[in-house]
Amino acid sequence: AVKDRVADLMSRMTLEEKVAQMAQYVGPEHMKQAEKDLSPEELHNNDALGFYPGLHHTDIEQMAAEGKVGSFLHVISGDEANYLQELAQKSRLSIPLLIGIDAIHGNGLNYGATIYPTPIGLASTWDESLSYRMGVETAREMRATGSHWAFTPNIDIARDARWGRVGETFGEDPYLVGNMGVEMIKGFQQDDFTGNEKVIACAKHLIGGGEPMNGTNASPLDLSMRSIREVHLPPYRRAVQEADVFSIMTAHNEVNGIPCHNSKEFMTDIVRNEYGFNGFYVSDWMDIERIHSLHHQTETMDEAFRQSVNNGMDMHMHGPKFTESIVEAVNSGIVSQERVDEACSKILEVKFRLGLFENPFVDLKKAEKVVFNQEHQATALEVARKSIVLLKNDGILPLKKNAHKKIFLTGPNANNETILGDWHWLQPADRIITVKEGLESVAKEKGFALDYYNSGEVIGKTTDKAIKEAAARAAKSDLAVVVIGENSLRYKWSEKTCGENTDRAHINLPGRQLELVKAIQKTGTPVIAVLVNGRPIGEEWLEGNMSGILETWEPGSFGGQAITEILFGDVNPSAKLPVTVPRTAGQIKLYYNHKPSHYFHKYKFTNKNPLYAFGYGLSYTKFKTTNVAVDKASIKGNGTFTVSCDVENIGKVEGEEIVQVYIRDDYSSVTRPVKELKAYAKVALKAGEKKSISFELTTQDLAFFDQSMDWIVEKGTFTIMVGSSSRDKDLSKVALEVSETKKLDLNS
Ligand code: IFM
Repeated sequence: AVKDRVADLMSRMTLEEKVAQMAQYVGPEHMKQAEKDLSPEELHNNDALGFYPGLHHTDIEQMAAEGKVGSFLHVISGDEANYLQELAQKSRLSIPLLIGIDAIHGNGLNYGATIYPTPIGLASTWDESLSYRMGVETAREMRATGSHWAFTPNIDIARDARWGRVGETFGEDPYLVGNMGVEMIKGFQQDDFTGNEKVIACAKHLIGGGEPMNGTNASPLDLSMRSIREVHLPPYRRAVQEADVFSIMTAHNEVNGIPCHNSKEFMTDIVRNEYGFNGFYVSDWMDIERIHSLHHQTETMDEAFRQSVNNGMDMHMHGPKFTESIVEAVNSGIVSQERVDEACSKILEVKFRLGLFENPFVDLKKAEKVVFNQEHQATALEVARKSIVLLKNDGILPLKKNAHKKIFLTGPNANNETILGDWHWLQPADRIITVKEGLESVAKEKGFALDYYNSGEVIGKTTDKAIKEAAARAAKSDLAVVVIGENSLRYKWSEKTCGENTDRAHINLPGRQLELVKAIQKTGTPVIAVLVNGRPIGEEWLEGNMSGILETWEPGSFGGQAITEILFGDVNPSAKLPVTVPRTAGQIKLYYNHKPSHYFHKYKFTNKNPLYAFGYGLSYTKFKTTNVAVDKASIKGNGTFTVSCDVENIGKVEGEEIVQVYIRDDYSSVTRPVKELKAYAKVALKAGEKKSISFELTTQDLAFFDQSMDWIVEKGTFTIMVGSSSRDKDLSKVALEVSETKKLDLNS
């Protein structure tokens, strides 16, 4: 029926109206922010508008009323959404607008939303059911406030800690990233995104942006097609084949000489035709223009628009001239009518399936009951508790009741919104629990006095006087908790050290934070470092000198509560790193699934191992993995096998262990990584309890692209490794033989 409705509507549409469906613009409230510092003259000067050239918010509103806008992005409230939908109703065909937003970890560009931990924290839970729940709940909050399309999950493979967007990803491992991404998409879209509580998801960014040359966002990727297919593309294949993701955003960067926004190979040949993608492509913000202006691949902007659409692009994100250019190109035969019809019909299909033609408006009264409701708050807290990684503990943690009469709290991130991470605007203070507020709320019950001192910002404002004062106060306390790290707040751009378009050449603590911690540690008072950061922080000194270290990533609205509960042992940490933490930027690219020769020679002055390995994380109890076995010594080319082991809690408190299974192809016709994650399980164990667990694997898990780029499993021996992290010393090994070489079907 949807197909018939689309066909009927399209039969009544002009070419201009069809192309307008392919055009997306930034919401007027967002635009007003960009316009507010400009003089009246500048407002009419395209160049002054920077990212918003040639468009003023009033132009865009008028265009919406004339049916020239198919979609908006960054509409920041239900009120604004209703206003825009009313404008669209005035147009000739009254086609409702599709509204997209970067609801990356909650719908944080709307005021008052539930903010969940950032994706890197979510991935640290190794629990994809939480990813699903976050998708379901975020979708509800989005629909309640008039948005229908989440520009997430970001399923980039993060291989460079200098890149500011690591926190937006699920880390470095294709399998873990795929699992988290697939479940989040299912949560957003559910069965078919009908009804008024679901949204469409957007897998992004196709492809390779997480491995940028020199770590800066959008820089080029020169990589073999084998690596791209084996490392970067698998989460996309799964997003398409397992979750039926309905939109994909292309990457800013070029790959092997072709800007992704102009890549027929990725958009059409591989993802649409080979993987079977059934949805539509959206460009990133004015990146089609950059095919011409940045990459210099086309001589004109018009050529860029036209080539991109011909190569598979369906929707253009923000900027003038796109519609006119494509209409003219169809009239002169440069772009086919079929290509436009294909793009337009997908976009209309979404609008019908979402029920927007029946009711494009939202009930603002109802929204109050949905946004930041009890259930969503509980999930945000649960994810935060499960996302915090205990990196070091000399025995001081968990803190004991009444053990430390006076706790000194300081550090730039102890009492601000940096726990919310990137991708939100300012939020109501009463919907955030900072670390200071978390500790304050339990001080009486746990029997300590809290002395808080604001030592300054992550960068700037940390004076000599402040460092001295912090040290003096620490000296008079029994314990110091120092909350340090980075700042991803996009509404404080000049102070931002992390997040989108905030890359760094170093991965140490920015500003004077290390000086601050050193001064405090020098007093002899034990120090616990609580890290709040998007990208991994490589600061070796902390590992050598802190009594305890918590990696909290950016834990969201309830971050301060979750951190407090972990400090006091009310929650036992269970998270593990989804990304390798290098000691220094010089070690980059550093990832666990490297090739055998990668670390053959040593560095002269630096240890070649990471500071913290992928899969690493401590608990307040200890676990032992024994009896690792595989059920067969040898299997055929298309066989299955079971890996089993026993896990025991040999400590004194209950906890959860994440048991990880890695494989290695011992000798192969194409060199293979030293290990690759293929399965994992989170096991809850009481003190002294033991459980047997097993994992079903197939030869698909052992396969790779051979020299002819066929997907094969190759005859020979494999090592199966099971344990608590990717470090060799944490893994037990068993052998498995594959008795024949066989070509497999990657897409089956
Ligand atoms: O969705 C984002 C994308 O990830 C980066 N550029 C801007 C887009 C819209 O905000």
